[in-house]
Amino acid sequence: FKQIVTVDGPSGSGKGSLCQLLAKELGWHLLDSGALYRIVGLAAQQQGVSFDDETALAQLAANLQVEFKPGAPGEPAAVLLEGKDISQQVRAETTGALASKVAVYNGVRDALLALQRSFAKAPGLVADGRDMGTVVFPHAPTKIYLTASAEERANRRYKQLKAAGQSVNLAALLEDIQARDDRDMNRAVAPLKPAVDAVVIDSSVMGINDVYNQVMIEINK
Ligand code: CDP
Repeated sequence: FKQIVTVDGPSGSGKGSLCQLLAKELGWHLLDSGALYRIVGLAAQQQGVSFDDETALAQLAANLQVEFKPGAPGEPAAVLLEGKDISQQVRAETTGALASKVAVYNGVRDALLALQRSFAKAPGLVADGRDMGTVVFPHAPTKIYLTASAEERANRRYKQLKAAGQSVNLAALLEDIQARDDRDMNRAVAPLKPAVDAVVIDSSVMGINDVYNQVMIEINK
């Protein structure tokens, strides 16, 4: 299956917005793989599963009763866990930290592999994550690694959360982003890094439309 574009990169690099725009314009499916790790983190917390217990976390991931309900064009999909809409909790900043804690385990990552690959269907797939190009879709013809400075990413997250009505602190966000970068880049399994054949785009001084245009050129090559 050839129509896949993978977009990997650190937290706040603009992957989410870029992938939503790409999926909408191309009419392709969208895999928000971060949401899967977020859901495992949330489910573990809700069910009182210890974040040190790899076996229990992997089992939880393997049995996830999760469903994505497509949103209106350009809107993110709603996330249903056992039929309950948990979209708000999934996107919460605190959930990102839970996600990166369960994501360090090989057992959890393996359990989510088949589910992620099942998103690769006609007419195409936009895959958003940390290891889309390196592990999940190693044969994707177009691989993007989107990054930006930590300061710029914290700034963007600040504006985003503020616009969503959440109370936020810029210094705390920067610290959180650096802690998450550190955990994602230095873990033993599937560490965050560009695939050898990825096009690296630094979005620090680029708007989303410039990034979008550059990625479309890569897809059409
Ligand atoms: O939206 P943001 O970029 O902050 O986070 P996300 O994409 O929802 O991912 C949350 C966390 O899940 C990341 O910090 C990673 O630790 C983990 N993750 C991963 O390990 N592999 C993926 N393919 C996607 C997310």
